[in-house]
Amino acid sequence: MSGFFISFEGNEGSGKSTQIGLLAERLRRAGWSVTQLREPGGTPIGEEIRHTLKHSSANHAMTPETELLLMNASRAQLVREVIRPALAGGHVVLCDRFYDSTVVYQGYGRGLPMNLVLSIIEAAVGETRPDLTLLLDIPLATSELRRISRQGSQPAVRDRFEEAERSFFERIERGYRQIAAADPRRIQVVDATRAVAEVHEAIWQWVAARLPAPARGAR
Ligand code: TMP
Repeated sequence: MSGFFISFEGNEGSGKSTQIGLLAERLRRAGWSVTQLREPGGTPIGEEIRHTLKHSSANHAMTPETELLLMNASRAQLVREVIRPALAGGHVVLCDRFYDSTVVYQGYGRGLPMNLVLSIIEAAVGETRPDLTLLLDIPLATSELRRISRQGSQPAVRDRFEEAERSFFERIERGYRQIAAADPRRIQVVDATRAVAEVHEAIWQWVAARLPAPARGAR
């Protein structure tokens, strides 16, 4: 049995988690076993690393190289502890971010050399790569507005990434555009400015067209 691996990518506020939830529900209704994950995180070890990366009060001095290695330490654990067994068991794996986030955030965003970024990713994932990547696309201004309103509703929750300057997010936006153009067979760009239900329908069309036969029959 071999499952199907879908990663979701996009700016802060692009609606990934809402869309992953809707897709998971629909896949389950169609008879699939679904494993829902997020990065960094998704395992007990990965969730501790996530805290260090995002919220720890001791993470101010973190260097880009440390960030690269921690992201991929979390990923190496997730791939071996969860993703490979789930795919071997025939699951559809939905992952909120995967290695494209490292290419874009640590490569384009932090400016680390791309050959270094790619070799660390290779060590973490080996052959385990998404069959399909859905890139939820929203303009930077929309992302900023959503980020600010989210911060407003949770003033005590500090997130080291959300604190970055605007030029960082401009490089992220450019990075996503470039990786999507370079790999159009795997990466599908979805206009995520539309209503939630419309975005879900667009996602479902891409997924149903790519999934192996049983789910297509169950559409
Ligand atoms: P999120 O779960 O709210 O999307 O937060 C994860 C943050 O971590 C987000 O700002 C993107 C960032 N990130 C990286 O910088 N590199 C990575 O490889 C991954 C998976 C996430």
